[in-house]
Amino acid sequence: MKGIKIFSPATVANLACGFDVIGLALDFPKDEIFLYKSNNPGIRINKIYGSPLPHDPRKNVAFVALQSLLKKYKQKQRFDETKIGFEIELIKNIHPGSGIGSSAASAAGIVYGANILLGNPFNTIQLIRFAMEGERIASGTAHADNVAPAIMGGVTLVRSYQPLDITRLHTPNELWISIIHPQIEVKTSDAREILKQKILMTDAIKQWGNVGALIAGLYQENYELISRSLEDVIVEPIRAMLIPAFYELKIKCKEIGALGGGISGSGPSVFMLSKGNQTAKKVTEIMNRVYSPLKVDYKTYTSPINQKGIKWIQLS
Ligand code: HSE
Repeated sequence: MKGIKIFSPATVANLACGFDVIGLALDFPKDEIFLYKSNNPGIRINKIYGSPLPHDPRKNVAFVALQSLLKKYKQKQRFDETKIGFEIELIKNIHPGSGIGSSAASAAGIVYGANILLGNPFNTIQLIRFAMEGERIASGTAHADNVAPAIMGGVTLVRSYQPLDITRLHTPNELWISIIHPQIEVKTSDAREILKQKILMTDAIKQWGNVGALIAGLYQENYELISRSLEDVIVEPIRAMLIPAFYELKIKCKEIGALGGGISGSGPSVFMLSKGNQTAKKVTEIMNRVYSPLKVDYKTYTSPINQKGIKWIQLS
């Protein structure tokens, strides 16, 4: 097999209460990656459509993630690196800096695809670790709550970073998501910088209660419990100021039937979960109504949860 096309989904990290540990994959939007193995050694990103991403390899998350995979492959297989190369074309449908896992989609997609072209030498956790290296250069931190759901699909939980221990959770089919992406810049590194390094025990108690109950709610398909658990008392109160009309969005979306939501990853996107696509569509409509009078460009999406994660097809 020489070439494949990879479809790598957008993701929502944190899911309100699960800062750096919970994330989910969306069906839409998704990046498209054309990846070819060649005998011409080296990694070449030949074209990037839809975004002025850096062609400088050291700043490109796909390049860095693939390089980290190849380094390990070299140790593992003792292959002759002068005989292996990759040609890449990226179609960025997920806007960089949107807060819905644009860098994760590139990093996760490329390592997933390379693993297939190399004959599957690596397991899922190893692929996540390579993709996290891409996240490290994109945001300054090698967090896994976007790359894990991109690769595994559904809702995922990082139990531990050291050692890396990640579980795919039961994800109800009726769960839908609405997203609004205000077209303002919020850098993940800045949005992390403003967070406090110490938290109150009373807040910690509320937060881990919510994380546990959210997971129980997913397994029980108990939408009222999911709704009550979508509460973040630690990160959201600090980051909310970065997003125009954040609290108005939350209140109005819940009034129309959303289960709840919050900031998607480090923002600026905001997500809301709903039971069923009818409610999700109404919620997206309300998001449009809240933002249309504001002097901020924005985009909205309505999507089911992506149960499968990355998909691929073989190219002839
Ligand atoms: N968990 C990370 C954060 C996700 O909130 O900073 C960044 O996309």
